[in-house]
Amino acid sequence: MTYRISDLADDVHTLLSQLDISQCSDKLCELVSKALNDTEFISDNLLDRVGREKPREVLYENDELGFCICGHVYGDQAIGEPHDHGSSWAIYGQAEGTTEMTDWRIVKAGKGEKPSIVEPFKTYIMKPGDAHFYGIGDVHAPKRIAPTKLIRIEGANLDRIKRSRIIAA
Ligand SMILES: [Fe+2]
Repeated sequence: MTYRISDLADDVHTLLSQLDISQCSDKLCELVSKALNDTEFISDNLLDRVGREKPREVLYENDELGFCICGHVYGDQAIGEPHDHGSSWAIYGQAEGTTEMTDWRIVKAGKGEKPSIVEPFKTYIMKPGDAHFYGIGDVHAPKRIAPTKLIRIEGANLDRIKRSRIIAA
């Protein structure tokens, strides 16, 4: 039976209604992996977006809890600078292609307008089916050298979240 985006949204809502994100992030990653392994879920929701301006599309947003499920479709390479998601957590799920993700540690915390200084400490490859949780303030940088498709769950819609100022050491 197909795992639909409404099923994923319901399952995420159930967990986040009962548990703090620190208690259910592993279970949320399992749900994302379940969606990633469902070929119909991917073909229904991660459509090729050639010619479209933005690779990110909000597929579902929950009015009550604020989380959203996004699809990211990159038709070419996509290399990101180290960043966090401000006051939000996020789960990245790799649907197609691979991401070389680097986690960074803060060596000097920013204050006011001063940016945080970060250095890399761990690099890993995300393959189709892999889901990874990034807590609030976790700094990371994705490198994708070929087309990729992803599902990302955002604790709050990142369109409305201010990111931290971060500079690589
Ligand atoms: Fe990110």
